[in-house]
Amino acid sequence: MSYENLLSILSAHGQEQLIKYWPELSENEREQLSSEILNLDFGEVNEIFRRANETSKVIFDKLDNDLKPIPQTHYESVPNLNVEKIEEYENTGLKEISEGRVGVLLLAGGQATRLGFGHPKGMYDVGLPSRKTLFQIQGERIRRIQNMATEKYGKEGKITWYIMTSEHTMGPTAEFFKSHSYFGLNKDDIVFFKQGTFPCYDFNGKVILAKKYHINSAPDGNGGLYRALKAEGVLEDIAGRGIKHLHAHSVDNILIKVADPVFIGYCSSKNADCAAKVVSKSSPSEAVGVVCRVNGHYKVVEYSELTDEAAESREPDGRLTFSAGNICNHYFSSEFLAKICNYESKLKLHVAKKKIPYVDANGVCQKPAESNGIKIEKFIFDVFEFAENFICLEVARDVEFSALKNADSAKKDCPSTAREDLLRLHRKYIRQAGGEITDDVDIEISPLLSYGGENIEELVKNEVFTISPFHLKSYEEAATNGVNGKH
Ligand code: UTP
Repeated sequence: MSYENLLSILSAHGQEQLIKYWPELSENEREQLSSEILNLDFGEVNEIFRRANETSKVIFDKLDNDLKPIPQTHYESVPNLNVEKIEEYENTGLKEISEGRVGVLLLAGGQATRLGFGHPKGMYDVGLPSRKTLFQIQGERIRRIQNMATEKYGKEGKITWYIMTSEHTMGPTAEFFKSHSYFGLNKDDIVFFKQGTFPCYDFNGKVILAKKYHINSAPDGNGGLYRALKAEGVLEDIAGRGIKHLHAHSVDNILIKVADPVFIGYCSSKNADCAAKVVSKSSPSEAVGVVCRVNGHYKVVEYSELTDEAAESREPDGRLTFSAGNICNHYFSSEFLAKICNYESKLKLHVAKKKIPYVDANGVCQKPAESNGIKIEKFIFDVFEFAENFICLEVARDVEFSALKNADSAKKDCPSTAREDLLRLHRKYIRQAGGEITDDVDIEISPLLSYGGENIEELVKNEVFTISPFHLKSYEEAATNGVNGKH
């Protein structure tokens, strides 16, 4: 493509800065840049910027009057359910798993900028006694829950693990799984797919170059899931395998109950098309989005969108009125997903001001110290409002939620807190099963042995645990890698 042709495409949309360095580029570089330019529809590029800015203006009007909590008829809380009810939901979920009707949608396309790791976040090892990574922990939880379903119902149903990656994470993620033999799972039951990108813009809507011959772009947010499911043929795969229930979650919750049968069973029993697991907000000022109803529609309202009055409002029993903290842990029926993917273009576009690497006037790549532009993202929860039967399941934070977002220097949602939260939970499981352990002993229970504290009584009852750190392995791991104990 000639310079003149590119110029005429770009100048029609005010984006001619993209070929500013054309005279300095080599033949290969010109080819790369022109193919990137031709891959974009600049009418759409400008429209995306316009729509995103419109949404951000609306967001700054604080919400209050039209805001309602989730009605009790659509809300259950695991800590308040009796054992029989939990077991009933769990059995329903296990049955669905044994029939091969359950899939997991793992959101692993993020750039993990706050963690500053430089690799896909799922490859992170928070320093557990076993040194297992987030991906390994999750893969092994899937293996365990498949076995539990088989033991219970005598049918070897498989969970299909759909892993959403992005331009940045696809290669290293697929390579990591391969080099770790898919963590013992069947390779054919793992489907990698790639989400789309949006260009990065300056504050005036001009697309930014990352290099003289390369457009700066970023993944289109975890709500890019819907477009990717359709574009990458994943919806057909889901239908082809007869999957009815999808558990979608972020990659960075170390306590995630992957393919949680209680959640699946609850949603399936209630005929839900879409659902969210939530944790009770720890305080009115906790900076977490809350699941609620706005003008009769289910939504996640960001902390910054709530008035102080709404954030602090309490029910007669003392609970916060808006306490349903969103933890990026969702259920979708396959029918709902198929429907929603058809109108994903209506999804809201969110704007985040960011420090975006750019090429300066001298053609040198720079990393700015201050925000110099925006990234646009779609959010997975923005489809809640389209659900016909949306429900919520509250779960205990200490059992199900600890996110890895930051480096240790932040002292919050970081590797140390993730490790400590998991070790604290596993101490609790040991005590519940009749073992003795003090708070200074670190013991990790392999996901291959136990999914949620079950199956360990034989190993821990009346035992006193003093060796730290200690990895309580499954029988299979102990047979191949040596007995339980120190690493
Ligand atoms: P976050 O919004 O916390 O982003 O993602 P992140 O990439 O992990 O971290 P920062 O913000 O760059 O520091 C929540 C979940 O959504 C996924 C992430 O991988 C994580 O599991 N995600 C996020 C995507 O899959 N794609 C995206 O474009 C953004």
